[in-house]
Amino acid sequence: MSAPGTLLVAESGEGYVSAASHLISRELWAAAARRPGERIHVAISGGNTPLPILSDLRTRAIPWDRIDWFWVDERFVPHADPRSNAGNARRALFEHVQNAHVFPCPEPSATLDLETAAKVYEEAILGALGEAPVFDLVLLGIGDDGHTASLFPGEPELSETSRVVVPVPARNGREPRLTLTAPVLQSARTTWVLAQGEKKRGPIGRARATPAGPWSETPAHLLSHARGDVLWLVDAAARPA
Ligand code: 6PG
Repeated sequence: MSAPGTLLVAESGEGYVSAASHLISRELWAAAARRPGERIHVAISGGNTPLPILSDLRTRAIPWDRIDWFWVDERFVPHADPRSNAGNARRALFEHVQNAHVFPCPEPSATLDLETAAKVYEEAILGALGEAPVFDLVLLGIGDDGHTASLFPGEPELSETSRVVVPVPARNGREPRLTLTAPVLQSARTTWVLAQGEKKRGPIGRARATPAGPWSETPAHLLSHARGDVLWLVDAAARPA
């Protein structure tokens, strides 16, 4: 992939949701056609941007029986909690379709702490994708501070290179989280960054800066080192200068 990837500008609001949903549906069929008979592995992010898009996917043709759905990251809370990425995705999409194969991160319990949950989820991913997992499609967001997944500026998880999933302890007012690591995000066959709104313009511009360099200050810049294709689907307000 040539850094920093392809920028695609869609309409705002409903137009953006419809464009993203349509393109994701097409990408999933394309991935299924590229690897006939094999499982298609998708990792989706949390936050607000994906939710209307996931809801719109209820109405789209999707090769449901071929896809295993994972999460890029998760807040380590019960799935019933409104902060839960898996819970929100289930409420937006997966509980409305018959045969979705979803692999949510484990929930906290008296016997499952954050570190153990990270190990459990890593084992689930390795079991499904094999060693050195390569996702067919990863859907990312970007924060106003340039974070992506739950990899935040200047935090230690950014430099993790041997693990697939790491715990992100509660910091800076955030709940504890689990996240895929940079090498996993960089190895995906196709990565899409979904972003809308003026506040994303600056971080997207920084994330797409060339030449590709360190990404400690703007974690989404790690995508400039991605091995696969990267597409930034933005609305006009998020379009970098
Ligand atoms: C999370 C996400 C996170 C998100 C960005 C953008 O769990 O919060 O995975 O990385 O993608 O914060 O969030 P919005 O789409 O709400 O702007």
